[in-house]
Amino acid sequence: MWGRTGKKKVLVINGSPKQNKSSTMVLTNAFIEGMKEAEDIDLEIINVQSLNIKPCTGCLSCWGRTEGECIIKTDDVPMVKEKILEADIIIESFPLFFFGMPGILKLLTDRLLSMMNTYRGHKPPENGESFHGLRYPDQNKRFIVISSCAYTEVDRVYDSVKAQFDYICGKDQYYSVFVPQVKTLVDVHNENKLNRFLKKFIEAGKGFMESGMMDSETLNGLAKPPFSEGAYKIFLDQFWQEEKK
Ligand SMILES: Cc1cc2nc3c(=O)[nH]c(=O)nc-3n(C[C@H](O)[C@H](O)[C@H](O)COP(=O)(O)O)c2cc1C
Repeated sequence: MWGRTGKKKVLVINGSPKQNKSSTMVLTNAFIEGMKEAEDIDLEIINVQSLNIKPCTGCLSCWGRTEGECIIKTDDVPMVKEKILEADIIIESFPLFFFGMPGILKLLTDRLLSMMNTYRGHKPPENGESFHGLRYPDQNKRFIVISSCAYTEVDRVYDSVKAQFDYICGKDQYYSVFVPQVKTLVDVHNENKLNRFLKKFIEAGKGFMESGMMDSETLNGLAKPPFSEGAYKIFLDQFWQEEKK
């Protein structure tokens, strides 16, 4: 038994502009299915694309005059912040866009600067801790990042995403699941292959809910490419040819 007692609140922040058509969410939904197999959860999915989010103006009031509070109160960000604070488990689900997170999710992330401690001139910590430190640290909370991309593997291409989350949360303070070739896996309509792949996510979600953690073997298993490099090249060639017809 981990975390608070009672039904756990799970907040999914879907950062794909494709909203409910997101291929990353196919993986995330399988993970959630597993979580539900383990225990009853209180689930909420937010589509960032459907929110009203004003860009951060860079005024830094949230670190000064109104410390801990953003001065922009007339959009959906205060509601999202409240939900993040209340959640036991936060899952951020998004596609890799140009080696980073999609713009809409960056917009939301910038607006949540108030959730980090005020910067007072220190150097980057060498022990992998959060650079700023979280303003509302909570040992009972869990944070999972699930992201998919089109590349054939995730080595190196996720370096900047990983560095960003390491600096924000602290290296060991979140779980990351970065998965290659996902859109093709979903598009190819090979039900058996897709179901086999999703089964790993269902099992991981169940295991996570039971233990409150995921070991490196599980995480590495989730990040394995569904297709061989050769087969994937053929799929992509065919896909782009079809697109031009
Ligand atoms: C603007 C844009 C940029 C992208 N950049 C990358 C990239 O740098 N690397 C990559 O592997 N895939 C990239 N992709 C592909 C998506 O990450 C991939 O198709 C993903 O699985 C889509 O997930 P979604 O359906 O959840 O949005 C990009 C797609 C778009 C539209």
